Amino acid sequence: MTIAIEPLHPLFGAEIKGVDIAAGLDAATFAVIRGAFEEHSVLLFRGQKVDDAIQIAFSERFGPLEKTVAANPARGTVFARQSNIDMATGALIPKDDRRMKYQAGNYLWHSDSSFKQVPSLCSILSTREVPPEGGNTEFASTRAAYDLLPDELKAELEGLVVEHSLVYSRSLTGFEMTEQEKAELPTARQILVRTNPVNGRKGLMIGAHAARIVDWPEEKGRALLDELLALTTRPEACYSHAWRDGDLIVWDNRCCLHRATPYDSTRYRRLMQRTTVAGDGPAV
Ligand code: OGA
Ligand code: MN
Repeated sequence: MTIAIEPLHPLFGAEIKGVDIAAGLDAATFAVIRGAFEEHSVLLFRGQKVDDAIQIAFSERFGPLEKTVAANPARGTVFARQSNIDMATGALIPKDDRRMKYQAGNYLWHSDSSFKQVPSLCSILSTREVPPEGGNTEFASTRAAYDLLPDELKAELEGLVVEHSLVYSRSLTGFEMTEQEKAELPTARQILVRTNPVNGRKGLMIGAHAARIVDWPEEKGRALLDELLALTTRPEACYSHAWRDGDLIVWDNRCCLHRATPYDSTRYRRLMQRTTVAGDGPAV
């Protein structure tokens, strides 16, 4: 098999062709994929036949998997399920159900698990049921945004620490956590400017979970976080992925943001399974 790497967007992202994930990957093939991941941040694989076991085996090549927390329907497993399907009955989950309200947080630009003490390396999302329209996932590169910053601002950002919180980000969409859920979700501190250990490229730990800049006045910190988010996610800098059956995407949570887009969950079925690979240590 020959692997081909083709760009998805001028700023970041690549489609990896010539790889059959279900067949198992030898060390040399995985090394190419891992190198492409460090370089391109978002990797698309099309035409894959992936079930839960295959997804776990592939994901573990990147590192140990996280367990899913909070109110995600797959809580307590290694999967985060983005779906309007009740797995017990197969029926569509009503729009006003708590599980759907929780998933509305995905409409905000975010980096998965940036609210955890050990932030994630990457997420892997595979399609199981794709709606005929809507439900794209969009991606943006904080690395590309960082490169555009003026040198004085880069210098000012160096060493800043950001408090990330899932309780904060879910409050933005009006989702109310129970006291027990809140107690299980302490805030986490991440370094704002994060350097990739392989290539030295810098990215920003921002997104919906980024609540405040430590030791800065509330409003000044909020203004900076909002400005960096707006720069990162300006429309021409985003890649919008229209899912097809058999797609699987790996994204780098250290230097990318992503968000879900709406679909008609009262008419169409959507089932996406995410595994999340833990990072190798606290960012601060
Ligand atoms: C995720 C996520 C977006 C989507 O799986 O982490 O944010 O479009 N998904 O389902
Ligand atoms: Mn996500």
